[in-house]
Amino acid sequence: MNKNMFQHKIDGLRSEIERHNRLYFIEDNPEIGDREYDELMLELLQIEKENPELIIPQSPTQRVGSDPLTEFSQIDHQIPLLSLGNAFDDDDLSGWHERMSGLIESDKFALACELKFDGLAVALVYENGLFVQGATRGNGATGEDITSNLKTIRSIPLQLIGDYPPRFEVRGEVYFPKSAFEKFNADRETNGLATYANPRNTAAGSLRQLDSAVTAQRPLDIFIYGLGWVEGNFQIPQTHIRCLEYLKTLGFKINPFNELVPDLEHAIEFHRKWVQNRNSIDYDCDGIVVKIDSFDYQQHVGTVGREPRWAIAYKFPSTQSITKLLDIGVNVGRTGTINPYAILEPVNVGGVTVKQATLHNEDYIKAKDLRIGDRVVVERAGEVIPQVVSSQKNHRNGTEQKFWMPRECPSCKSPTNRNPDESALYCTNSSCPAQLVRLVEHFVSKSAMDVDGVGGKLGNSLIQSGLISDVADIYTLEREQLISLDRMGEKSTSNVIEAIADSKDRPLSRLLVALGISHIGTEVAENIANRFGNMDKIMKAGVESFTDIPDIGPKIAESITNYFRSSSNILLIHKLKLAGINMNKNSDNDPSEPQAQVLRDIRFCVTGRLNQFSRSEIQDRIKELGGTVSGSVSSLTNYLIAGEEAGSKLSDAARIGIPVLSEDDFLAMIHQRPFYDDDA
Ligand code: IVH
Repeated sequence: MNKNMFQHKIDGLRSEIERHNRLYFIEDNPEIGDREYDELMLELLQIEKENPELIIPQSPTQRVGSDPLTEFSQIDHQIPLLSLGNAFDDDDLSGWHERMSGLIESDKFALACELKFDGLAVALVYENGLFVQGATRGNGATGEDITSNLKTIRSIPLQLIGDYPPRFEVRGEVYFPKSAFEKFNADRETNGLATYANPRNTAAGSLRQLDSAVTAQRPLDIFIYGLGWVEGNFQIPQTHIRCLEYLKTLGFKINPFNELVPDLEHAIEFHRKWVQNRNSIDYDCDGIVVKIDSFDYQQHVGTVGREPRWAIAYKFPSTQSITKLLDIGVNVGRTGTINPYAILEPVNVGGVTVKQATLHNEDYIKAKDLRIGDRVVVERAGEVIPQVVSSQKNHRNGTEQKFWMPRECPSCKSPTNRNPDESALYCTNSSCPAQLVRLVEHFVSKSAMDVDGVGGKLGNSLIQSGLISDVADIYTLEREQLISLDRMGEKSTSNVIEAIADSKDRPLSRLLVALGISHIGTEVAENIANRFGNMDKIMKAGVESFTDIPDIGPKIAESITNYFRSSSNILLIHKLKLAGINMNKNSDNDPSEPQAQVLRDIRFCVTGRLNQFSRSEIQDRIKELGGTVSGSVSSLTNYLIAGEEAGSKLSDAARIGIPVLSEDDFLAMIHQRPFYDDDA
C-alpha cells in the first residue's frame, strides 16, 4: 500500500471507531460488542504504528496517551463564560419573565427549558471538525487548558460528522454519573482508600489531574448546552433549541430532556416536574435553566455585568440546611460496631424535618472537626440518611465540646476496641443484647428473611424475656411463649407463627444477607449463592474462591471467611439447619431440582403498578430464573416490564430503544399463562 492508501484506510477506521463511540456513549445504542470494537482499535493501532507520521492528536488511539503535564497552561477565552442569575421561587421567575416581556416587543416568546447540571463548565474548540482545545471556565475570562483530560471522555467527539463551521466553540458541563460515583467509592472503600464526598467534587478533581491516564479511569461524561462562538460566515440555526439539535447532528451529546415551551406557566411546570423527578436521573442537577429561545431576542435583551439577561437558573429547593449540633449519641450496630450519630436542633431540609443524622465513625468526626455546640451543615441527598457535611468554625464561641468515642459499650458496658486498620469501634462482647436486637431487626427485615410481624419491638421483648439468645431461636418459639408477651393477642401470635414458618424457605442469598456479615448486601449474596449453590460449600471455601467472583474484593472475601471461622457462627448455622431453614440456592420445595434458568443473563427493569405480582415478587421470580433486575433503564437493559402509570422509565426505554413488556408478555416469556386466563 502507498501512503495515500494507508491514509484512506486510517480515515475509514477512525470514522468507524468514532461512529461506534457515538452509538455507545451518546446514543446508548451500540451495534457491536467490545470484542469487535477492540479489533477495530487494534487494526488502527497497528497501521499507525507502521506509519507514525499519519498519527494525529484526534485519532481515537490518542484518547489516553500524552505524558503527564507539570502544570496546566492558561487560556484566554475568546468570549467570556458567563454565570447565571438565580430564581428561587415562582415569583422570582415571573419577575424575570415580566422584565423580559418589557424589553421584547412581541407579547409571547418561546422559552428553552433545560436541566442545570451540577458539574464543571468547559469550552471545547473545533477546527475543521477536529477537537483541538478544551478549557475550564476558570474565572470566566481565563481558564486552564485541560485538552488531554477532556479527550479521555468518550462522549466528547474528537472528529465531527456532517457540515460544521471551520472554527467554533461549544460549551457544556462535565459530570460524574451518580451510579458510577457510587461504584467508584465502593471500590475505593474495598481497597482501603479514602472515599470522595460527592460526584461534583470528584469530577472537578478528575479534570484537574496532570496525568490524563488518571482521568481516563474516571467515567466522566458531558452534556453540551450551547455555542460559544462561531468563526466565518457559517449559517447556524437562529434559535437555541434548533441550534442544540444541529449540534447533535455533528455528534455532540445533548441532554434528551430539553424542552421548548411557549410561556412562563409551562416553564414553571417544567421546574415542578423536575423537582419531583430529579432523583430518577443518573446525574446531579441543582435546578433548571430557562433561556429565551430566539437568538435575536437574546441579543436584544443582552448581558448585564457577568450575567446574560436572556437566561436564568431556577434552583431546586436546597437539600442542605444549617442547624445546631446539640449532642452526639452512639448506638450499637448488628455487627457490634459502635456508631456515632448527630442529635440536631430540628431543621427543615428540602421539606423534611431532620432531628438526627449519621456521623459514620470516629474518623469522620475528626476529619470534619465536629464539636458539640457547632453550627453544622446538614444534607439530605436522594433518599439516603441525612449527613452532617461540615461545621461552621467561624461561628464558634469557645463553649463547643470535642467528642470522644466511649470506652464502654453503651448497652452492655463491655470494653470497646478499635482494630488499627478499620475505622469502626466495636463492642467486644459477642452476646451484647443491643447487638442482638439490631441483628434480629435485620434478620427479619424485607431484604433478608422477610418475617412479617416481627420487628425491633417484638425482637427486643423476646430478648428481654430470655426467649431468644440468637436468631436461630426464633424458629423454636412456641405459641404459648409468644402469647405470654405484652401486646401479643391470639391473632397476632398466629400471624407471627405463620410468618416465621413461611420464612424457612427463603433462598440461600436471603439467608446470607440475614446473617449480617459485614459488606454482604443483596447483590454480593446472590453472586455467592449462584457460585456455590449451598451453605456447606460456602462455609468451606477459601478467600481465593470468593475473590474470583465479580465485585468481590479481598475485604469482602475476608469478611465472609472470618465469619465462618468463628465457632459461635458455625453453631448458629447448625441450629438454623436443624430448624429446617433452606440452605440451598433455590427456595422451591425440592432443592435438588433447581428451576430451569430460562432468564439467564437477561437484564430487566420494572416500573409502574403491576396487577399479578408485587414488586418484590416479580424481582424474586426474575432472579430465581437466572435473570437480573436493575433500578434504572440503560443500554444494558434487555427489557422493561411496565405496569400501569409507568413514568419516566417508560420514556427512557422508548428513547434508548429498549423493548417494553406487559405483565402478560412477561408471564408468556417464562412459559406461564396470565393467572386470569380461563384455560390456565
Ligand atoms: S447556560 C450564560 N445551561 O451553570 C449562560 N449553563 O451559573 C451560560 N450550567 O457555569 C450557561 N447546566 O456551567 C447553561 N443547561 C445549562 C447548564 C448550565 C449547568 C452551569 C454552567 C455555568 C453555570 C452558570
